[in-house]
Amino acid sequence: MLVKKAIFPVAGLGTRFLPATKAQPKEMLPVVDKPLIQYAVEEAYAAGVREMIFVTGRHKRPIEDHFDMTFELEVALEQAGKAELLEVVRSVKPHDMECIYVRQAQALGLGHAVLCAQRLVGNEPFAVLLADDLMVGSPPVLQQMVEQFSEWRASILAVQEVPAEHTRRYGIVAGTPVNDRVVDVNRIVEKPAPEDAPSRLGVAGRYILTPGVFHEIASQPRGVGGEIQLTDGIASLLRREKVFAFRYEGRRYDCGSKEGWLQANVELALAHPEVAASFRSYLKTLAL
Ligand code: UTP
Repeated sequence: MLVKKAIFPVAGLGTRFLPATKAQPKEMLPVVDKPLIQYAVEEAYAAGVREMIFVTGRHKRPIEDHFDMTFELEVALEQAGKAELLEVVRSVKPHDMECIYVRQAQALGLGHAVLCAQRLVGNEPFAVLLADDLMVGSPPVLQQMVEQFSEWRASILAVQEVPAEHTRRYGIVAGTPVNDRVVDVNRIVEKPAPEDAPSRLGVAGRYILTPGVFHEIASQPRGVGGEIQLTDGIASLLRREKVFAFRYEGRRYDCGSKEGWLQANVELALAHPEVAASFRSYLKTLAL
């Protein structure tokens, strides 16, 4: 197993989702019945990751509590004979999964958040998952990326084709295609205007990175928006190491935006065994 650790940066301010994110991280917003962060943790677990490192900010409690044991709740469910719900609660944190928390005192950017986990990661490759990008793939997207990492033994960035008018929302990569799904990256730019974008391949919130990136992030000045950008660290890494972009198979919902979050709720509800049938009937009554 080559990728054992994952970083979950959850210290952003989540301004696009105020007031819901005033007193809780946006990663705790539920989609149907699970918080976003749990989808991301489950995706990492399915890819073989067992050490989950959360980079938290002021609102860390709800995330810590979510992945902790809830003794009173478990006793109550046990006494009420609610075995299925008890299993739902217990499976949030499997026994062989470790959760570690590190604090980012100030939201200085995604690159800075990743750097906060450097000592916990050490000198080995690691994954970064942005939980507000909810990924639905089979196999799960991070697992697809771990397979690519085993093949190329170099950093892997999840990418997707984005509309030209949306390049300002993404890190955009360009490079030489290696096969249908993989591009050998030679350029990456954070949030370019459409006319400056080197391609339309936008980076989604999943990365597998080599530890060399820490040194590169640490030597970055502040970039777009006055933040220490992960993209700039990766741009420096490119000068020393190979970096590949991988067009994953699956669907991404930008749950950091209201519209993406609403879409995720509708589509995942329509696939949810408990509510799918009745929710579908309900949607039909709306006759939009
Ligand atoms: P976003 O760019 O979505 O920023 O961060 P944000 O502050 O969370 O949200 P908006 O734009 O104000 O609504 C991408 C990811 O990086 C994390 C966020 O938690 C999110 O998962 N992040 C960002 C940090 O952990 N620290 C930072 O300083 C910035």
